[in-house]
Amino acid sequence: MADMWTRQDWRSRHAKHLPEYPDQNRLAGVEERLRTFPPLVFAGEARRLQQAMAKVGAGQAFLLQGGDCAESFADFNANIIRDTFRVILQMAVVLTFSGSMPVVKVGRMGGQFAKPRSAPTETRGGITLPAYCGDMINGLDFTVGARTPDPERMVQAYHQSAATLNLLRAFAQGGYADLHRVHQWTLDFIAGSPQWERYRDLCNRIGESLDFMAACNLTSNIVPQIHETDFFTSHEALLLPYEEALTRLDSTSGDWYCCSAHMLWIGDRTRQVDGAHVAFLRGVRNPIGVKVGPSLTKDELLRLCTILNPGNETGRLTIIVRMGEKITTHLPALIQAVTENGYQVVWACDPMHANTIKTENGFKTRSFDRILGEVQRYFAIHRAEGTHPGGVHVELTGQEVTECLGGSQAITEAGLAERYHTFCDPRLNVSQALELVFLLAQTLQQTRKHLSTAPPQARSHSGKSDPSSK
Ligand code: PEP
Ligand code: CO
Repeated sequence: MADMWTRQDWRSRHAKHLPEYPDQNRLAGVEERLRTFPPLVFAGEARRLQQAMAKVGAGQAFLLQGGDCAESFADFNANIIRDTFRVILQMAVVLTFSGSMPVVKVGRMGGQFAKPRSAPTETRGGITLPAYCGDMINGLDFTVGARTPDPERMVQAYHQSAATLNLLRAFAQGGYADLHRVHQWTLDFIAGSPQWERYRDLCNRIGESLDFMAACNLTSNIVPQIHETDFFTSHEALLLPYEEALTRLDSTSGDWYCCSAHMLWIGDRTRQVDGAHVAFLRGVRNPIGVKVGPSLTKDELLRLCTILNPGNETGRLTIIVRMGEKITTHLPALIQAVTENGYQVVWACDPMHANTIKTENGFKTRSFDRILGEVQRYFAIHRAEGTHPGGVHVELTGQEVTECLGGSQAITEAGLAERYHTFCDPRLNVSQALELVFLLAQTLQQTRKHLSTAPPQARSHSGKSDPSSK
């Protein structure tokens, strides 16, 4: 039970994807310092996110979670943070206005520094070194010095996260996110593109709506949401020594919160029911996520629901599905099992991680069409099951990179080299991200219509089992 839980429980479990630090004393010293550092987020904020996520679970809001695959120490400046924040805001505005849904905005930002890798080592020219595991663990350069895990990097990640959060809070609350500024969020480099035309049209309509509201005396004094927004942070809780050191007892509730981010998730490679990552996250009261790939069984999913959300609270647990084409054959049975057993979960779709390919010219990339295809299948499955699709989890950047193929800019394999900047997985650029949400907003609207007109017993599996008999 969570009340028997301690922050160190994970240490007695098998932990996958944790680095082997050569100097354990140095590691212990860093952990001790981190334990004295102020929390990055507050328990009350995490509770507010959980309430928002409960609305997502109930079909009254949509989750938009996005950001870099991996943040980096080198690409750290105010413009990059602003641009990622801005594209997420733009996407949220499109979804809210065209999809008629409030959007819960969660950045993969302010802490997304640790990466599980498919191979623990990398070999170049006959030399084998540890794989790059994110700036919080080791460096990207192919040298012994850079690739050796260094615990001091956790301290730098903490400070960078603190500065990122500080700026994000200022952007969200200090006027930048004011809906009167939607036109100004448009980035110069997408001017003239099809997405820009559509976005500009939408901004004009928002402007008219705001004028109408103002004429009715509904200004930001009365409706603060016009002037400011809620923006939350999240990352994969991979590096458990760091997460443990930032886990604090909340004096208001008497509960433990992991104060490195509002939401934490467990990756597809570390979601073993008896593993260290599950043992850690089950005891913190933040809203949490689990990424699930096609190898997940129904039984494992049900056990994860029991372990990670023992109180069956709404908004506590998000199942982030990342299955690629296998989604069609795998997801329906999982949704049915969760529904039939009465588990409260939020569903979300990560259409990125099962759609990664390597091109002949050596780039890791993803095709826009396959990404869109997975989201559309995901929506169709939920529609058939009578469940709410919840939201999307995407890797994106506010920079005009060329990392994913296709989209209306028709990025080709040869074009990838132009601006391929990612430190890890390929991200959607601004045009691709906007194109995705414009298409999604249409689907969302159809889904809403379908749900609001479907009879309550429309679900094919409803009534198959009695939740009270489990
Ligand atoms: C990620 O989100 O960057 C990631 C590694 O995802 P997954 O755990 O789904 O593979
Ligand atoms: Co990734």
